[in-house]
Amino acid sequence: MTEHALTPDGRLRHFLTLDGLGAARIEHLLESAEALRPHAAGGTGARQVLAGRTVCNLFFENSTRTRTSFQLAAQRLGADVVNFDIAASSVKKGESALDTLRTIEAMGMDAFVIRHAENGAVAALSDGVLPSTSVLNAGDGRAAHPTQGLLDMLTIRQHKGSDFSKLTALIVGDVRHSRVARSDLHALRALGCGEIRVCAPQSLLPEADTLVGCTVGQQLDALLEGVDVVMMLRVQRERMEEGLVPSLDEYFRTFGLTRSRLAKAKPNAIVMHPGPMNRGVEIADDVADGPQSVILQQVANGVAVRMAVLKHLLGG
Ligand code: NCD
Repeated sequence: MTEHALTPDGRLRHFLTLDGLGAARIEHLLESAEALRPHAAGGTGARQVLAGRTVCNLFFENSTRTRTSFQLAAQRLGADVVNFDIAASSVKKGESALDTLRTIEAMGMDAFVIRHAENGAVAALSDGVLPSTSVLNAGDGRAAHPTQGLLDMLTIRQHKGSDFSKLTALIVGDVRHSRVARSDLHALRALGCGEIRVCAPQSLLPEADTLVGCTVGQQLDALLEGVDVVMMLRVQRERMEEGLVPSLDEYFRTFGLTRSRLAKAKPNAIVMHPGPMNRGVEIADDVADGPQSVILQQVANGVAVRMAVLKHLLGG
């Protein structure tokens, strides 16, 4: 599979998807992220790892968490970082994404972190870079968001241990438009998650092959029964045709995670959300900010996971 092409010394060349990556490589990256955690929080302890290397953030779609954490991850490994500002660039004059990338690459880049609104666009751009350049997918359309998948797995491991076969995970919400859900599903399957449940309105379910092996339904209360991990998703209105969701109030009544609903899950269940959250649409305030929420821990883990992936690709 070209997407998992390896360098001569056995490292990944690009990081485009978790699909087909395999449990051993995913676990290796999670262990590396765990080891890098003390440096992810700041300090200068890992600044030699990528000293002299340059990483460019090339985001054709908006981002808060992913872009900032990739920037910090590269900086805390000692790399130089270019945060390319699309809004102020020649992209606005009609320059293509590939010409933009090649232009910046000519100034000496080791890696591009790319987010793009179209499925497959990041993989397509990775075909156009120099042999020495790595490409990392920071989210393409609804297809994949592999570092989010990894940081979600790291967060689950920190609370539930590394044996996923004992766990029941429930993914709730707009699975159809979610690259996060697709990458989480790839990772949960690879790590042998005991049971994967999916709860979404019929109109927000993805194609059937995305859901192979999952228990799928519309009854959130029943699906919450006995789960260890609840993964909420944002209702992605910007990716929707009209009418997929009746009204946001009704959505909250049927699919919103409230405290009383959460009580159906195991008492020590964790609540996750990739952000940005629509409070009062998919999740209640007192759940998002409550004792079972690990949402900010996910954010913090994002830096460690992205450090691990950059280190693995650029070979520090
Ligand atoms: C997500 C994304 O952009 O895919 N956010 C993120 O990266 N943490 C999820 C979303 O936009 O809903």
